[in-house]
Amino acid sequence: MTARLFLAVLGVGLTIAQQEYLLYTNGPGGVECGKYHRCIQNATCEDVKGVHMCECPHPLLVGNAKLQCLPKGDYDVWIQNDPHLKNFHSEFAGLHTPCPYRVLNLMFVPKADTRVILELYGQNVLFRGGHYFLTKLSLSTTVYIQNDLMKQIMEFEGDVLVDTDTNSYNYTFLARSLDTSLLDEPEMQDRSMEIVDTRFSEYIMAIDKDAFNNLLHVQIPGLGVTLFFRPPSMHEEIDNIKLPMVPGAVFNIQRDSWKMVDISKSEYDIAAFPEGPSLKEQATDMKTSLPTYVQWLLLQDSLSDLGYNDTICYKTREIVNLECRTEEQKLYMLGACSAVYADKGFLECLTERNTMHEYLDMHKLFFQTCASVMCTKNTSGCEKMKREMPEVTKCPLPKKIQDIDCSTFM
Ligand SMILES: *[C@@H]1O[C@H](CO)[C@@H](O)[C@H](O)[C@H]1NC(C)=O
Ligand SMILES: *[C@@H]1O[C@H](CO)[C@@H](O)[C@H](O)[C@H]1NC(C)=O
Ligand SMILES: *[C@@H]1O[C@H](CO)[C@@H](O)[C@H](O)[C@H]1NC(C)=O
Ligand SMILES: *[C@@H]1O[C@H](CO)[C@@H](O)[C@H](O)[C@H]1NC(C)=O
Repeated sequence: MTARLFLAVLGVGLTIAQQEYLLYTNGPGGVECGKYHRCIQNATCEDVKGVHMCECPHPLLVGNAKLQCLPKGDYDVWIQNDPHLKNFHSEFAGLHTPCPYRVLNLMFVPKADTRVILELYGQNVLFRGGHYFLTKLSLSTTVYIQNDLMKQIMEFEGDVLVDTDTNSYNYTFLARSLDTSLLDEPEMQDRSMEIVDTRFSEYIMAIDKDAFNNLLHVQIPGLGVTLFFRPPSMHEEIDNIKLPMVPGAVFNIQRDSWKMVDISKSEYDIAAFPEGPSLKEQATDMKTSLPTYVQWLLLQDSLSDLGYNDTICYKTREIVNLECRTEEQKLYMLGACSAVYADKGFLECLTERNTMHEYLDMHKLFFQTCASVMCTKNTSGCEKMKREMPEVTKCPLPKKIQDIDCSTFM
């Protein structure tokens, strides 16, 4: 039996009467640093060999001080700017994909009788100039306490509006509750109430905002976990590169809370655990390059059965899983086709010569076509793609697509 609940959000005392609510900020941020960007409040701007860098204000804090400063020794995953990842292992990787991807999947054991599965998904949008920015996050928890279960799925999006007259920026954060359910609980007397089972309350996501630095905060106190998110602007005419405060997200686990993570029941994903193999080592094991391995991971867990859904990405993954039977075949396909998602010159051209409305689907469909012909070894389909895609996209093919020899597939 499932009881759907209206959820009281801790911290700010907001009650989600509907399943969706909005927060606004228009904070000034900290000092200006470099050509476009501002640091966060209290951070300092330093000239490091001619490059302006935001530095955290305290020696015990670390981070990209344009986004966040966090205690040294904590466990952090950064998805910064036009997004590149800095994972638990402190490795950098480009996240070149317009499809949803899983950032991490962790199992926490906070108490002997308690298990929490936590999953984080992201999705980027391709903007003008060929830059991707993280536009959506979805965080889910499944909490087991003895024989009872609570599930919560929240989705976070946002936007930035610019008032060109006053040069001010308005941030909008949207938090959407996709599911909050408590299973195997007795029927509630009053259904519009807070979660009554207090054993679960410390695992409920608490939503708040940093109005000064324009960040959304999502906290799970019982896990020592915080997610910070600053969205890009979804408006085609606004150059996200030049926004005073860089878009991005940070997922933070407090140092002491890492002990609760059961590594053997968690998955490495792109977040790569500090004590596990690095992405580079995993790529070497699979005899492939780091960028191709990262593309493989992004595609591998590209869809959740919980967050948002993307029809084209979903279909692509189905084709790949059906037709590219071995991991070698997938890597071989990605070695060429990921150029559609990652070739800088191509992305610049694609976003220059087409409107956003036109190129968003065109881009995903080009990748789908490439994956399909490579996985099915379809020579005529491959030749057709190479012939027609320059016309459709109004751009020269990425070099790696040009180089595919359609007559001799692996
Ligand atoms: C900046 O410093 C003030 C005063 O010490 C403090 O209240 C505020 O929380 C700090 N802000 C950040 C983002 O650390
Ligand atoms: C930003 O918010 C302020 C206060 O809510 C409002 O006066 C202003 O018109 C907004 N600007 C834009 C561009 O939406
Ligand atoms: C995602 O979309 C595909 C195709 O539109 C659909 O078949 C699938 O059931 C959807 N998955 C979820 C979890 O909504
Ligand atoms: C190969 O591609 C062509 C052109 O896209 C298509 O018409 C044909 O059905 C494909 N053949 C196979 C076996 O998938």
